[in-house]
Amino acid sequence: CEKQEGRPFRQRLLVVANRLPVSAVRRGEDAWSLEISAGGLVSALLGVKDFEARWIGWAGVNVPDEIGQKALTTALAEKRCIPVFLDEEIVHQYYNGYCNNILWPLFHYLGLPQEDRLATTRSFQSQFEAYKKANQMFADVVNKHYEEGDVIWCHDYHLMFLPKCLKEYNSKMKVGWFLHTPFPSSEIHRTLPSRSELLCSVLAADLVGFHTYDYARHFVSACTRILGLEGTPEGVEDQGRLTRVAAFPIGIDSDRFIGALKLPQVQEHIRELKERFSGRKVMLGVDRLDMIKGIPQKILAFEKFLEENPTWRDKVVLLQIAVPTRTDVPEYQKLTSQVHEIVGRINGRFGTLTAVPIHHLDRSLDFHALCALYAVTDVALVTSLRDGMNLVSYEFVACQDSKKGVLILSEFAGAAQSLGAGAILVNPWNITEVAASIGLALNMPAEDREKRHRHNFVHVTNHTAQEWAETFVSELNDTVVEAQLRTRQ
Ligand code: G6P
Repeated sequence: CEKQEGRPFRQRLLVVANRLPVSAVRRGEDAWSLEISAGGLVSALLGVKDFEARWIGWAGVNVPDEIGQKALTTALAEKRCIPVFLDEEIVHQYYNGYCNNILWPLFHYLGLPQEDRLATTRSFQSQFEAYKKANQMFADVVNKHYEEGDVIWCHDYHLMFLPKCLKEYNSKMKVGWFLHTPFPSSEIHRTLPSRSELLCSVLAADLVGFHTYDYARHFVSACTRILGLEGTPEGVEDQGRLTRVAAFPIGIDSDRFIGALKLPQVQEHIRELKERFSGRKVMLGVDRLDMIKGIPQKILAFEKFLEENPTWRDKVVLLQIAVPTRTDVPEYQKLTSQVHEIVGRINGRFGTLTAVPIHHLDRSLDFHALCALYAVTDVALVTSLRDGMNLVSYEFVACQDSKKGVLILSEFAGAAQSLGAGAILVNPWNITEVAASIGLALNMPAEDREKRHRHNFVHVTNHTAQEWAETFVSELNDTVVEAQLRTRQ
């Protein structure tokens, strides 16, 4: 590294994501308390040693007054975070509307909203306008803080319009964009009214990344079929300018999970859980309460298993942690009621005076409680209908080195491509198949479990979040130089 005033020079990385990695609570007119959320992206970026990361995003709260905005900006600066202030109306149209009601279901193969089609069509254009406006607001903040030589990494479906806005400000900015969800088949993407505009905006980036090779291939196909551009093995070419497109599978900070298991409070928790569920096998689901996670289908498969295997009824329990999310969107409210109804019915049907087959929790667990739960689990059920990657499967594997439990994993989660050989892969739509897999998993001989676990554990501990972030950022650095060279030729 070059030295600058005695300090090693580190290139700045501006990470732009819809949400900042902090939750902000207002404590007074000009007072805020902040709590850093330790998600995968945060730990990934902490591990990127050659860069100094700053985060730009929405703080998740409405701050209409200038005093509040100023105070929050100052408090966030200490955490190297820079806020984008979005008012309630724009959050409703951009985040609840276009992001969560249109792009999210479409990218997960659930199609454009089916109900109330007319209303959706009428509001579509205004939601798309709000989406573009919000992306422009993010771009304005990035531009304000940009210094020559910075690398800009945009994240996810919320910010597909951002690369174009940034390049319009300054074509020399190094811009990468990474999608955390699946990118669907071009036949699905082409149903989106704003399909071309979004693709063109993403193509303004220098490097475009996906979790799997399939998603990258779908994106390139969409660009060739919908925009008529040329797909090359390296990406997409438009009039001599290349946008690199590649797969960068994310991982977790496995050391953090493995380390936590040694802590006395986690050991104590493990002891309590073992006592609480002694004599029963523990099956676990940990999901955001989202339709893509396939929670109703999973619970129905568990019901089918109990129905067909009466001897297991008092010997197994399903713990389902369902973290509430996007609670303002009606689809999510409906899903919550549906899941409650199914759980209630099954517990009524198979419960006894002393035990119920399903423990369903509508909340998240703290990190230590979660690690303990992963460690005591015999069978984890990750049965997403579609999922970009699914890191719950990785976290479970990281915490299972002594138990060597079984992972039942949806073939429609990105993780199936990395953990498929160690997991039991299922089609989550096929309840009969999932029920049969539960039986297989519960009865699996120790030797088989050990072999499968070893395969997955090696993968999870070798392909970490830090490595993912470093690979993407260093490739982005190189790619821009390459793209500029090509344009000059
Ligand atoms: C997915 C998305 C993320 C998002 C997360 C939580 O994993 O890819 O970008 O942050 O869900 O959703 P929320 O809408 O609560 O931010």
